[in-house]
Amino acid sequence: MTWDIKRENGADLDLNDVLEVYRSSGLGERRPIADTERMAAMVRTANLVVTCRVDGELVGIARSVSDFSYVTYLSDIAVAREHQRSGIGRALIDATRKEAPQAKIVLLSAPAATDYYPHIGFTQHHSAWVLNP
Ligand SMILES: CC(C)(COP(=O)(O)OP(=O)(O)OC[C@H]1O[C@@H](n2cnc3c(N)ncnc32)[C@H](O)[C@@H]1OP(=O)(O)O)[C@@H](O)C(=O)NCCC(=O)NCCS
Repeated sequence: MTWDIKRENGADLDLNDVLEVYRSSGLGERRPIADTERMAAMVRTANLVVTCRVDGELVGIARSVSDFSYVTYLSDIAVAREHQRSGIGRALIDATRKEAPQAKIVLLSAPAATDYYPHIGFTQHHSAWVLNP
């Protein structure tokens, strides 16, 4: 199987393909996928979107907001279930780093992924704070 990992413009992605990756990865349970307008805005306005495609089919996405200088906030990363644990998540994060090499990556982990990030080199920050809307 060969994958194609590349940066894409979020606004150019087919929203249904994106929603399918959120759904099939499991991340859809933690994101407002029923609110398609909101999801469309999330994908359109993220300024650093990296995708993984297999034979053209979208199977993975990393959606970030970056200043490309200091920090990249990785908002969502999702890999379709049938492609998980084959290195795609790590490759999406590597490609995200390459787009903004000076920037550190910051994220909030979903419960199912708390063991994933330390496994691929992230360190835990003990002072993360959230102000909900
Ligand atoms: C979490 C996720 C993005 C990881 O992507 P992936 O392509 O499956 O992971 P990779 O293949 O890059 O895994 C790299 C390594 O981490 C390990 N790993 C993968 N998922 C893991 C998990 N949930 N917990 C612990 N380790 C994990 C792999 O076994 C692999 O180990 P190895 O290098 O020793 O062989 C993907 O499983 C996913 O989409 N999960 C559901 C959505 C989700 O929770 N997203 C995170 C939101 S914060």
